[in-house]
Amino acid sequence: MSQSLATVAYLGAAILFILSLGGLSNPETSRRGNLFGMVGMALAVLATVFGPRVGAGGIAWIVIALVIGGGIGLYAAKVVKMTQMPELVALMHSLVGLAACLVGFASYVDTSIQLEGAEKIIHEVEIYVGILIGAVTFSGSLVAFGKLNGRIGGKPLLLPGRHWLNLVALLVVIWLGRMFLNAHDVQAGMLPLVVMTVIALLFGVHMVMAIGGADMPVVVSMLNSYSGWAAAATGFMLSNDLLIVTGALVGSSGAILSYIMCQAMNRNFISVIAGGFGSGAPTKKSGDAAAAEPQGEVTPISAAETAELLREAKSVIIVPGYGMAVAQAQHTVNEIVRTLRDKGVEVRFAIHPVAGRMPGHMNVLLAEAKVPYDIVMEMDEINEDFPDTDVAMVIGANDIVNPAAQDDPTSPIAGMPVLEVWKAKTSIVMKRSMASGYAGVDNPLFYKENNRMLFGDAKKMLDEVLGALKG
Ligand code: TAP
Repeated sequence: MSQSLATVAYLGAAILFILSLGGLSNPETSRRGNLFGMVGMALAVLATVFGPRVGAGGIAWIVIALVIGGGIGLYAAKVVKMTQMPELVALMHSLVGLAACLVGFASYVDTSIQLEGAEKIIHEVEIYVGILIGAVTFSGSLVAFGKLNGRIGGKPLLLPGRHWLNLVALLVVIWLGRMFLNAHDVQAGMLPLVVMTVIALLFGVHMVMAIGGADMPVVVSMLNSYSGWAAAATGFMLSNDLLIVTGALVGSSGAILSYIMCQAMNRNFISVIAGGFGSGAPTKKSGDAAAAEPQGEVTPISAAETAELLREAKSVIIVPGYGMAVAQAQHTVNEIVRTLRDKGVEVRFAIHPVAGRMPGHMNVLLAEAKVPYDIVMEMDEINEDFPDTDVAMVIGANDIVNPAAQDDPTSPIAGMPVLEVWKAKTSIVMKRSMASGYAGVDNPLFYKENNRMLFGDAKKMLDEVLGALKG
């Protein structure tokens, strides 16, 4: 393939990626967005493999790598459950970071690259910055992976003088950068490069360890952004325009997502990065299983009684959370919604921006179950409607409906906007036990007079509710 044809293919792929991001911003166009992304990626891979920069010998290596990588990817996609997606995404971010580091070191020792003067300096700056971002992304994402799957506790690690530690690390990295650029040969430059990489790896660990469980959504989107910048840096090192554009797209959209997440959680971005928020994090292996001290009496309700309340209601708001994803209850939820709407009950969904374990988690599940988009409302659109609602049904959600966020300034989730389900005439919380949610804090909602607890697996209980509604 000639250079000009490869450039046209890259341009086409970049346009498709932009269209893909546009499509993914709305549930109705998200399938199309995904398709654009897949076609764009296929085009990019083909143009790279058959492009002018890969010789005949190179193709064999690429095919071997494609078969191994593609095989692992296919296997992971088949065995990973929907609830494990956030961990998988964190792991993939770490691989982007690792790739940036490896490409950086390979470019540095590559004797075929002979540059002089300003070009040499620019190339070395690209290598240094690329490895720096890549190493932070790599280790930070691995810690995020551990935190998301519960292997690492969610409690923030607050080292004494941590801000000073970070500042010193930054100054040392700048000083090492100067040493690296002034090095006369590869041997002399390798030492500052390796030391900087170790510091960057430690910084990545420290940065994510210092962030509390409740602030993980911001971390997930932030690492998403970093992985984009790491890819862009790799693009600079390899002089690959498409990688630069694609990396910048991922980097900037991840940064915008981080900003949106911070707003959703009423957090200051810099403070989240500096760490220390969300200190009341999960204490057990799994955040969901972390038990909190009960703070009063709860009123249980049966599935039949729940069905009765729903049948008699004029308006119902459903609040789905992580438990709905775990139980895979979305299809039964849709059946219940249809049955109620057929009976003339107004049913809507209230979606909290950080419900579940990844951005848009609930929207994806509801779209999969074919819930009509026009009854799925964002928190801001629906929060004021709870006082005029007969039944608020909470399905496997906890932190996002916790009134302590408003009432208790000492709570780790204080200040986080929540769905005010307790303002409905009756709220029903569907979960298996009194265990706390991801943030590991007790939920005073459970003890409110107008609240009922429907204990059990969400799918099982909803099947019973549906049976009672239809019977
Ligand atoms: P959580 O607060 O984690 O609560 C989920 C609840 O679901 C748990 O209390 C659990 O109680 C229940 N549950 C689990 N399995 C269930 C099942 N099979 N059937 C019924 N219930 C089940 O979830 P949320 O309200 O969606 O809030 C999200 C939390 O995750 C926030 O703290 C957020 O900061 C954090 N987070 C979000 C993200 C993103 S990007 N969305 C990323 C990382 C972390 P039982 O064990 O008693 O059943």
